[in-house]
Order: sequence, then C-alpha cells, then structure tokens
Amino acid sequence: MPDIEHSSLAIHQRELDAHFREESPFWGAIYEREGIVETIYQERLRLTLAMADGLCLPPSTRVLDVGCGAGLATVGLARRALTVDAIDPVRAMTQATRKRVAAACVETRVAVQEGDVHALPFSDDTFALVVALGVLPWLPKIEPPLREMTRVLHPGGYLIAAIDTYWQLRQLFDPLRNPLLHGPRRLAGPFLRRRLVPRRGVRPQVTRLREFKRELVAQGLELQSGYTVGFGPFTFFNRPILPASAGLRLNNWLQSMANAGTPALSSGGSQFLVLAKKPNAAEPKGSCDSSQLDRRLQPCPRSTLRATQP
Ligand SMILES: C[S@@+](CC[C@H](N)C(=O)[O-])C[C@H]1O[C@@H](n2cnc3c(N)ncnc32)[C@H](O)[C@@H]1O
Repeated sequence: MPDIEHSSLAIHQRELDAHFREESPFWGAIYEREGIVETIYQERLRLTLAMADGLCLPPSTRVLDVGCGAGLATVGLARRALTVDAIDPVRAMTQATRKRVAAACVETRVAVQEGDVHALPFSDDTFALVVALGVLPWLPKIEPPLREMTRVLHPGGYLIAAIDTYWQLRQLFDPLRNPLLHGPRRLAGPFLRRRLVPRRGVRPQVTRLREFKRELVAQGLELQSGYTVGFGPFTFFNRPILPASAGLRLNNWLQSMANAGTPALSSGGSQFLVLAKKPNAAEPKGSCDSSQLDRRLQPCPRSTLRATQP
C-alpha cells in the first residue's frame, strides 16, 4: 500500500478507535434495551446466528468474529459449540467481550485479542466462517477488509457481513435523508445543512448494494443469501413522525414482511446482511455472472430464521 494511503488509513483508524472507545458501553447495552434502533441491531444479530445455524457447522469448527464489539455474536457462536476467535482494535471492546464470554461460561471455546481487519493475525485458510457485523460501514474502503477476510477463510468457508445501504426506504420520506434530494440539499447552503444535519466526528458510510455484491464477487466469493434489516426510525426533517411504540410496530411489521421474502422490501432496509461462500476448489465453480446474482441472493429459509435465538 502506498505510504500516503497507509498513513491516512492509520489516521482514520485512530479516530475510529477513539469513537468506539467512547461508545463501548453502548454496544453492550443496545442488545438489552427496547426501542427501534435497539430492535434493529437485535434482529441483525438474530439473523446472523440463524444464517450460521443454517450452515450446520460441526462442533469445534473454528470461526472468527471481526470487530466483535461487546461480544454478542462471539458468545452466540460459542454457545453453538463453535471455537471462536474474536478480534477488535479497541481494548474497551475486547475487555467487554472477555467479560461477556466469562459470564456465559464459554471461555474454553473463545480466544479474544486486539486486532485490525486490514491485517488479521491469522494464517490463510484458517476459518470455516468469518462474521463482520457493523464493521465495513466504518472503514474507508470495503475492498481491503473483504480481501483480508476472504484470505483467512478456508475453501468452502463462509463470510457473513453487513453494510449500511445507500437506498433505504425510510429515507424516502425525509427530505434531509432522501438520496434523490442530495442536489437541492447542497443548494440549501452550508449554514442550513450544518444546522439540520449536524456532522461530528467519524460517521458510517453507506454502500450501494450493487457495489457490495460486485466486490464480494471480485474477491472470488459466491453469494448465497441476503437479508435486509432495519426499516425505522421514521422521520421527517430528522424528527420522529410516529410515537415510539407505533414506530416500533411498523418497523417490526416491515421487517417480518421482508424476512418472509416480500420482493418490494427485499433491499429496503437500512442495512444488508449477506452470506457468501469461498468456493471449494473441488466443487464446480458457481457463476459470477452479475445477471445471476439477484436470483441467487435469496433470503434464508424462513423456518431457520424464526427458530433461532441468540
Ligand atoms: C458498530 S460496532 C459493531 C460491534 C459488533 N460487531 C456488533 O455488531 O455489536 C463496530 C466494531 O468494529 C470495530 N472496528 C473498527 N475498526 C475496525 C477494524 N479496522 N478492524 C476490526 N474491527 C474494527 C469497532 O471497534 C467496533 O467494536
């Protein structure tokens, strides 16, 4: 990597680490509280573990949780008798994960360490499954982390990763968030924009779904299934348009329709979760023709998803 790129990545990562150091209590609490945002993260975790269940990995299979945060997915995977490595660059996060792992009595199956997805401290072909929830949106580019996660997967292994999506149904109704109104918002002037959409510190980036799929395929991965997650909060000029309980009900209803495969909602959530496979050399290679991607990127079977609890 050229020096200049390397140093801007290091600066970005330092800011990111400071952000998540401060936010570390939030990333445990959000899985225990009620609310729309909380429900969305809980659903993302539930779908992830349901996807992992669907793989039917044998006990003791080695899996990796990248950007483990407070360790919710780590513990969920360890409770499935998998052997889990968990990494995160922020010490407050690895400490929170260790605590959660100890409380769940799964220490014998989990190894936690500080680490960065851009340089994973593992050999090639180590894991049967790599999970990265909420990590890619915070990084400057998705290609280097995807390449690195693919490297540590063994042939026939799987990646479960989430992005924040460019087209989100909830944004269409809010002039401050609708991507189609980006031009008029720029014309509104920096003063107005600063007041209406305050921007401070590092922020997550959105990715077009098409670009995400293309990048996965470029890494040699085969797309297996995908899930859209998160339809609320519902806002107009950044203010809630529904009382909290009605907003939550609407989010949950839209989510259940999306989980059931309703085509109009299949990519309308604020996040997208994919399951992709690193092909096995012995298997016939799946086609990487982009016209086939949408057909292949179908939701997991409903029965698997409903049955699973974190
Ligand atoms: C939004 S939080 C999600 C945490 C957890 N995966 C979850 O879903 O609850 C993002 C996590 O990614 C971690 N992270 C940030 N930069 C990273 C990097 N370069 N490599 C690995 N993890 C990173 C952060 O420290 C943070 O814990």
